[in-house]
Amino acid sequence: MSETPKEIFTKPSDTPIRSSRLKGFFKLDRGERIDALRAFTDLPVDQTRILGQDGSLSFDLADLFIENAIGSYPLPLGIATNFKVNGRDFVLPMAVEESSVVAAASNAARWIYDSGGFEALCVDNLMIGQIQILDLPSEEFDHAELEILRHQKQLLELANQTHPRLVMRGGGARSLEVRKFPNAEIPFMVVHVLVDTRDAMGANLINTICEKLAPEIAILSGGRVGLRILSNLADRKIFKARVRVLPEVLQVKELTDEITGLEVARRIHEAAIFAWEDPYRATTHNKGIMNGVDPVAIATGNDWRAIESGCHAYAARTGQYRALSRWRMSADKKRLEGELEIPIQLGTVGGVTRLHPLAQLGLRILGNPSSVELGCLMACAGLASNLAALRALVTTGIQRGHMKLHAKNLSLAAGARGNEVEVVANQMVIEKRVSASAAEKILSSIRAQTISEVVSLGPNLRRGEAS
Ligand code: MEV
Repeated sequence: MSETPKEIFTKPSDTPIRSSRLKGFFKLDRGERIDALRAFTDLPVDQTRILGQDGSLSFDLADLFIENAIGSYPLPLGIATNFKVNGRDFVLPMAVEESSVVAAASNAARWIYDSGGFEALCVDNLMIGQIQILDLPSEEFDHAELEILRHQKQLLELANQTHPRLVMRGGGARSLEVRKFPNAEIPFMVVHVLVDTRDAMGANLINTICEKLAPEIAILSGGRVGLRILSNLADRKIFKARVRVLPEVLQVKELTDEITGLEVARRIHEAAIFAWEDPYRATTHNKGIMNGVDPVAIATGNDWRAIESGCHAYAARTGQYRALSRWRMSADKKRLEGELEIPIQLGTVGGVTRLHPLAQLGLRILGNPSSVELGCLMACAGLASNLAALRALVTTGIQRGHMKLHAKNLSLAAGARGNEVEVVANQMVIEKRVSASAAEKILSSIRAQTISEVVSLGPNLRRGEAS
């Protein structure tokens, strides 16, 4: 596979330069956050209104998307700030239920911003369709392969007749490959059709092409066609994100006296080796990467199950399941270098991306990217999430950050509202007792305290407050 990027992107000349370093974004209230987002993205008023509506997927649409619909299932939608990718600033929409994911991505993106930003590229951009051939003695496989490849030009023309508009947009079927499985329990062959689907995810396009080619493939091979379907191992649609992080930005404030930024970087290198060698660790390491990728996929209406299955299969492509990212110290030991390489099947046109109002909004927040740009941004989100997790794991441990947010969830569940949420959560962390019962006890004690304070203020003030 060539390292030459198929397409890269830089700041279009008509885009005003705005910084994605939205300092203190997390401290703003909802309205202020939306205002800041509008200022960054020029979000039109109608799309801003959608943001203010909880439950903006109408039942009509839900009923159109799936069968037996009874409603919709909302997820929190957040904004990850501080992304600079190929010299251009972005904020990323993330739809996710797990606390700390958006904060982690934003924090790591800030360290990376301060180190010069992400570099991202798409190194290959083709989707794969599969046509299975059965009922052929394995001695005839080579001949069948030759026949199919001898007719490649005609087969590709036939494939492209099914999607003239895709061809007009510069896409279409590009080539065929044949794979043979003579030693399988039932021997079979597979023809791969490699298709440039442009900005569409292309599942339907590819399935139609496979179905169209199947009868011809059967005649040419002399066999019987079995399955005709796209492959979710999209190893010809590969995105890379790279960073070169300054060790000093990795320093943990509370541990300044104990661990230098350089030591944090060195430990991240060790942690990456652990994930490269050990599949048990690699799986968790890769889950941390998908913490960044999936929420952006969901927020832009993409099929995250396809992306997940593709990434994990790609992680096992050498026969051993390994980390999808690598981290190491640069040769001069001055930077921590990180690289993520993943297949991402995605689209920015058609299907859910076109119909779901929040997917439209997600794409708008990103400046209506091409699928190549969006894939690059997803890869960056994955690498940022990975870095945040590793930094926490090699320093304070992951539980500290998780516990703070978990404590907030518990205090909400215990009935805390408004300022009470923060007060109860902080108290639990201070007391190192983060549990449902602790939340209930602390909440009733602060409420009792508030009542006794009001009582002690005397009847005049209480009357004044009520008037
Ligand atoms: C939790 O959602 C993700 C992590 O487990 C990832 C990792 O261990 O690298 C923290």
